[in-house]
Amino acid sequence: MKRERVLIIGGSGGMGLATAKVLIKNDYEIIVSGRTEAKLIDISNQLGPNSSYVVMDASNTVELRNKLTELPKIDHMVVAVSVRANASDIKTTSEENAKQAFQRFWISYNVLHFASQVLNRNGSVTLISGSSGKTPLKGYGVWGTLHGSLNTLVKQASIDIAPFRVNAVSPGGIGINTDRQLTEHRGNVEDIANMIFAIISNPAVTSTVIDVDGGERMGTWNG
Ligand SMILES: NC(=O)c1ccc[n+]([C@@H]2O[C@H](COP(=O)([O-])OP(=O)(O)OC[C@H]3O[C@@H](n4cnc5c(N)ncnc54)[C@H](OP(=O)(O)O)[C@@H]3O)[C@@H](O)[C@H]2O)c1
Repeated sequence: MKRERVLIIGGSGGMGLATAKVLIKNDYEIIVSGRTEAKLIDISNQLGPNSSYVVMDASNTVELRNKLTELPKIDHMVVAVSVRANASDIKTTSEENAKQAFQRFWISYNVLHFASQVLNRNGSVTLISGSSGKTPLKGYGVWGTLHGSLNTLVKQASIDIAPFRVNAVSPGGIGINTDRQLTEHRGNVEDIANMIFAIISNPAVTSTVIDVDGGERMGTWNG
C-alpha cells in the first residue's frame, strides 16, 4: 500500500519532531520543514529513507505558497511552528509584539488558504493551539486570544475547505510541573505526537480541538 505523505511545518522542533518519529514508525512518508537547513538534514538522516525536508520561512506568504505548490501532492499537513514574542497581557503588550505572536495565526491561516492546491482528496490539516485559549486568565491576554482564534479558525476552515479535514491539538503544561493540572502525568511532546497521529489516521475526525493538557486550567488552578 502507498504510504501517505505528511508535511510537518516546524518539523525540527519538539512537538513537530516527536510527531515525525511517531508517523515514521506508523509507515507514513514525512517531509520536515523549518528555516534551518542544518537541523533538517540531521533530522532527515535520523528519520531514514521515508523522509525528506524542505527549507522555508512559513511566515513569508510568497515563499510558503511557492514551496507548498512545488511539492508533490501531500496527504496531511501539520503546523507545529513556534513564534517567540514578548507578549503577555493586553494592557502591557504593544501592538507590534502582539502582531509578532499572531504570526502563528497567519502561518496557520495561509496553510489552510493554500491547502486545497496542495492536498490529496483524503487530506487533512492539523494545527497546534494552546490551553490558554480555554479560560481567560490574567497575564495571558495575547496568547489566550491567539489560541482562541486558532480554535475558531479550525471550526470555520473545516467548513470552508471541506472535504479536507481540519483539527487542532491544544497542548498545555508540556515539560512543566503537574501542579497546574488534574493528572499526575508530566506532559511531554510524545503526548502531542500521539494525538496528532490519532487525528491524522482517523478519517471521521474533523472540526475538533482536542485538549492534551492534563486538565490544565480546570478546577481551582489560577495560574
Ligand atoms: N509547551 C507547551 O505546553 C505549549 C502550550 C501551548 C502551545 N504550545 C505551542 O506549541 C507549538 C510547538 O511548540 P514546540 O515546543 O514544539 O516548538 P519548538 O521546539 O520551538 O519548535 C518550533 C519549530 O518551528 C520551526 N519554525 C519556527 N518559525 C518558523 C517559520 N517562520 N517558518 C518555518 N518554521 C518555523 C522551528 O525551526 P526553525 O527555527 O529552524 O525555523 C522548529 O522546527 C508552539 O507554537 C508553542 O507555542 C506549547
